Amino acid sequence: MIRFDILSIFPEMFESPFSSSLIKKALDRHIIDVRLHDIRGYAVDKHRMTDDYPYGGGGGMVMKVEPVARALDDIVSEESDCRVILMTPQGEPFSQKIAEDLARCNHIVIICGHYEGIDERISENLVDREISIGDYVLTGGELPAMILVDAISRLVPNVLGNNESALFDTFATGLLEYPQYTRPQEYRTWTVPEVLLSGDHKKINQWRRKKSLERTLMKRPDLLEKAPLSEEDMRLLEEIRKETE
Ligand code: ADE
Repeated sequence: MIRFDILSIFPEMFESPFSSSLIKKALDRHIIDVRLHDIRGYAVDKHRMTDDYPYGGGGGMVMKVEPVARALDDIVSEESDCRVILMTPQGEPFSQKIAEDLARCNHIVIICGHYEGIDERISENLVDREISIGDYVLTGGELPAMILVDAISRLVPNVLGNNESALFDTFATGLLEYPQYTRPQEYRTWTVPEVLLSGDHKKINQWRRKKSLERTLMKRPDLLEKAPLSEEDMRLLEEIRKETE
């Protein structure tokens, strides 16, 4: 069981993505637990302000430190193996490796940043890790938080069914996945590769491995440099290079 606590000024944004598909199933089966917290509820002043003007001037508003600190005081307990994460475009780039890392914790607290900036004292004193989902800027950390919850949850045992094992995912093997086909055997003039209909599993596995290598070489050559490759893989790569010359 893994528990997520999400701090946001728009907790209602999470209702729809968590009410369908595998995440809903995992929630219903109590394999994961997601608790939403409205940061506004922890604001100290009567207007429930969660942002304020920046010291030193300049445009935009800054997310205040007290409401976030008070929320964390409430949520974070000393006993659990808890990580506090801030979603921000300035964080380390999210990856399968980070998802695997975090899937080993039993309690993850995610702060969704907002406004032009976040009081630096939040990152300095309250956060274990800052994570970005990519080099683009969104209106807030809510969508990034959903991505984190989704990518981590599917690695938690029993969230995926047996047939959807994460073991052979793109990235888990270090290579892109081989192409898949299902019925019909022919649609318009588009046919399924003959080898997949042959029933020869040795040949099929070899074809799939070669396709994985070929795709990775074409689309993500950067991944090939880090992927664990066997001698047979090197031979297949040589074959691919010759074929594409
Ligand atoms: N908040 C706004 N943009 C973001 C991004 N790219 N990653 C994480 N949090 C964000």
